[in-house]
Amino acid sequence: MIRLTEREFAEIVKYMSDVYGINLDKKKVLIECRMTKLLEKLGLNSYEKYLELLHRDKTGDLAGEMVNCLTTNYTYFYREPDHFRKLQEIILPELLERGQYRGLDIWSAGCSTGEECYTLAMVLEECRRPDSNLGNVRILATDISGAALAKAQKGEYPAKEMEGLPPEWQMKYCRKINDRSFRVAEELKYHIRFQKKNLLEPPAPSEKFDLILCRNVMIYFDKSVRQRLIRILESVLNSGGYLLTGHAELLTSAETVLEQVFPAVYRKELKKDK
Ligand SMILES: C[S@@+](CC[C@H](N)C(=O)[O-])C[C@H]1O[C@@H](n2cnc3c(N)ncnc32)[C@H](O)[C@@H]1O
Repeated sequence: MIRLTEREFAEIVKYMSDVYGINLDKKKVLIECRMTKLLEKLGLNSYEKYLELLHRDKTGDLAGEMVNCLTTNYTYFYREPDHFRKLQEIILPELLERGQYRGLDIWSAGCSTGEECYTLAMVLEECRRPDSNLGNVRILATDISGAALAKAQKGEYPAKEMEGLPPEWQMKYCRKINDRSFRVAEELKYHIRFQKKNLLEPPAPSEKFDLILCRNVMIYFDKSVRQRLIRILESVLNSGGYLLTGHAELLTSAETVLEQVFPAVYRKELKKDK
């Protein structure tokens, strides 16, 4: 394993925190474990040389490789089931009703390898009524890790991952490839657009959402970055829109103007049309 000097460690921690908000200040061994392979692949024997190349690299490829190594992409289908039950029973029926003419914009922010946005697409299908028009439901699924997004786009997973889904959904939405793997049904992809995106970059004025899932992302941020992200998420929510965070990253009333309606579910005030 290639060891980090204190100076190299501090530089990587600062870079990851400044650019992506990810706090790695207690993760020296993790960085060494994950980045050694990358250095070896590039024929380098020190992080100093890597950092030199990183700062000179105009393509963004080296930063991308480092992000792929150092982000934690752990996720699974139907994670935090209470959220998906609330979405199916309460939140999506309400939003679909409200958005039946202008459509519905949903953002899976920090979607990792795609399990979250595909579970969401399954829930949407479950909410489909004979008269409902899901054609104008758009899910934007974003992540900073290109490697995670490539897997998400492919939509193929080890067979074991299917077990987290209700058995009926496994039958409806999962297509077996062989004994070891399956792919998600094509119709689920219809709603989803994948995009590489740093959550901390200022959003475009046109970006507005009725529902945002930003779950298990803020746990890797320190307090000030978390606050910056909360402001961004609040600003892109439509009035009456919902934000879902992970149950391990609940927002306090001092941190957000959004109203908590269920555990880890927040809503922006609904402004009535005059
Ligand atoms: C632990 S996964 C959570 C995935 C999914 N939301 C869930 O709850 O299962 C966190 C994801 O956030 C992404 N992430 C971390 N910092 C980010 C940033 N600044 N911009 C965009 N994505 C980021 C990571 O690449 C990773 O895929």
